[in-house]
Amino acid sequence: MKVADDKILLTVDGSIATMTLNRQEKLNAIDPEMLEGLESATRQIDRDQEVRVVLLTGAGERAFSVGADIDAWSALEPLDMWRRWIRDGHRVFEGVSRMRQPVIAVLNGYALGGGLELALAADLRLAAQHSEVGLPETKLGTIPGWTGSQRLPGLVGPARAKQMIFTGARIDATTAERWGLVNEVVPSGELTSRARHLAAEIAANAPVSVQMVKQLVDGALGEGGAATLEALAGALAATTEDAQEGLAAFRERREPRFAGR
Ligand code: COA
Repeated sequence: MKVADDKILLTVDGSIATMTLNRQEKLNAIDPEMLEGLESATRQIDRDQEVRVVLLTGAGERAFSVGADIDAWSALEPLDMWRRWIRDGHRVFEGVSRMRQPVIAVLNGYALGGGLELALAADLRLAAQHSEVGLPETKLGTIPGWTGSQRLPGLVGPARAKQMIFTGARIDATTAERWGLVNEVVPSGELTSRARHLAAEIAANAPVSVQMVKQLVDGALGEGGAATLEALAGALAATTEDAQEGLAAFRERREPRFAGR
C-alpha cells in the first residue's frame, strides 16, 4: 500500500489503483490537506505505467463525501475563497478528470456538494443503493463552485441540473441512474465487487486505445480538444524518420535532410 497522504489512501493492486477519501469521522468532507493528497495521488497514478483503471471512493459505509469542509471554507476571507479555495479545487478536479486512465467514482453513500462535483470529474459512476446525491450549496448561501454547475448539465441536462441546484434537494440512487448521473446502481453489499469487476473488464482491454478514446470523447464534449490533438500529433511526429534526422542533425551540428516520412 502506498500512502499519498493520511486523508487520501492510495493502493495499487495489479493494474487497478484505488484512491480513498479518508476522513470517515467527518463523512469524508474535503479540506485543503485532502485536496493536496488527491493532487499528489493523481499525479503518481498518472505516471504509473502499470495502472490501467482508477477507483475513487470514500472510507466507511455512509459517505463518498459530503463535500467541501464547511468549517474550513467559512473561515476564509472572501478573496481567499477566490485566490485559493475555488482555484485549488478546480485545479485538482481538473487533474482527476484529465488522468490518462479511466476513473470510476464508487459512491458508497452521500455524494453531496463538492463530493458530487468530484464524482462528476470521474469518467463513470457506480452507486450503492443507499447513496444519495445532491448539490446543497444554495441552502448555505453559496454555489457549487468546484465545477458542478458546468459538468452536471452535460450529464442530466440543464433543467434537471437547475432543479438540483435551485432546490439543493438530495436525490436517491435510482433517480440518479434514471437521470444519467450514475451509470449503475448496485446493492450496497456488492458495490466493491461490482466496481472491481468493471475495472478489471476495462483493464483487460488495450490500455493505449482506452486512454486515447477517453481523451477523444472528452474532446468531443469540448474539453481539452486542442490539447489532445497536440499530444497525439506530438506522439505521431516522434515516430517519423524526420524526427530522428532532425535530432541527429542537431547533435551533429549540420543541416537536416528531411525525407517527409
Ligand atoms: N463539512 C464539514 N463537516 C461536515 C460536513 C461538511 N460538509 N458534513 C458533515 N460534517 C461533519 C458534521 O459536522 C459531523 O461532525 P461532528 O461529528 O464533529 O459534529 C460529522 O461530519 C457527521 O455529520 P452529521 O451531520 O452529524 O451526520 P448526519 O447523519 O446527521 O447528517 C448529512 C449527514 C450529510 C445529511 C449532513 O452532515 C449534512 O447535511 N452535511 C452537509 C452537506 C453539505 O451541505 N455539503 C455541501 C458543503 S458546501
